[in-house]
Amino acid sequence: PVVPVILSGGVGTRLWPVSRESFPKQFWPLLSEKTLLQETALRSHKAGLEVEAPLVVCNEEHRFVVAEQLQDVGITERRIVLEPMARNSAPAIAAAAFLVAEKDPEAVLWVMAADAAIKDQAKLEAALEKAVTVARDGHVATFGMKPTRPETGYGYIERGEELAGVPGSYRVSHFHEKPESAVAAELWQRPEYYWNSGMFVVRADVFLQELKAHAPEIYTAVEKAVAGQKRERDFIRLDGEAFAASPEISVDHAIAERTSRAAVVPGDFGWSDVGSWDAVWELQDKDAQGNVATGNAYLEDTKNCYVRSDGIVTTLTGVEDLVVVVTTDAVMISHRDRAQDVKKIVKHLKAEG
Ligand code: GDD
Ligand code: MG
Repeated sequence: PVVPVILSGGVGTRLWPVSRESFPKQFWPLLSEKTLLQETALRSHKAGLEVEAPLVVCNEEHRFVVAEQLQDVGITERRIVLEPMARNSAPAIAAAAFLVAEKDPEAVLWVMAADAAIKDQAKLEAALEKAVTVARDGHVATFGMKPTRPETGYGYIERGEELAGVPGSYRVSHFHEKPESAVAAELWQRPEYYWNSGMFVVRADVFLQELKAHAPEIYTAVEKAVAGQKRERDFIRLDGEAFAASPEISVDHAIAERTSRAAVVPGDFGWSDVGSWDAVWELQDKDAQGNVATGNAYLEDTKNCYVRSDGIVTTLTGVEDLVVVVTTDAVMISHRDRAQDVKKIVKHLKAEG
């Protein structure tokens, strides 16, 4: 079996003021009438290939949002793993791996972010099928996305030799998580380099072996947290004290950069990390002037803008390349090219309390 593991613990500060700690971006309908979490869960649901019910890992605070959003799209069979506090993605995946391994250590985990967009389901499924074969052979499979700019917010994968059994898949010779800008500038145009999509396909037992070898403190802490689990309907609550003892580290640093068993399946399925308002604009259908307007927003003589108002009437006249996002308690205006920088403001606001 293949078990989708949906990571839903991120905060998404670059999509402020819509995305908040109390209600992060994956719980909002940003690209369609469904939320990013719902789109992700449905995508896994449709994927065929003995794909089982999903396991969502999220903060305890979000348990009812997650349950309700899955229910609303008809995903009634699921397990929701609750973290008492965020420890980043390695411990989150570890919890899923221990839980899945209780029943079937050789089950394949299909780990994915709750907040990415994928356009081409058929191509995704073809890549997944390859990745599952590679994972069954004991590899940690990643998906390689062709870079289009020297982005520093992603992991870079260097492809090595082709795997004999699975044409079109390769060993990973290097994995650089979030390189410095000088390094990214050097790597992005090389044909043997890919961006990491943030999805991993790996057998539960293989993940746990790699974790034990490369991040033993996470292994020990999460093993205890899962042993002390409390179940209540479809919620699985991890033991708080044990989980708190885990180091806070991403799977990319803890495993992907350190393992010698990584493989990459290059894919061209229209993947996008919905990382900023600029990306949200990019991903949507535009009017003849290149605008996207959502909610209570009206435009006149305006070009290539993204406007969203969840409340008061918002109008734009005679401007270009702006992002304007209005919620009930905040207004955010930015040049489209600077949309990433909203995270700096969020940091200041947080510091000021
Ligand atoms: N449950 C849980 N708990 N989920 C978490 C936690 C946590 O503590 N921290 C992060 N996540 C989830 C996020 O919600 C997201 O779905 C996923 O794990 C990835 O975390 P991000 O924090 O968004 O990682 P990133 O974007 O900086 O980098 C990753 O994704 C890139 C592609 O978008 C890496 O895998 C990069 O290598 C990759 O290129
Ligand atoms: Mg991300």
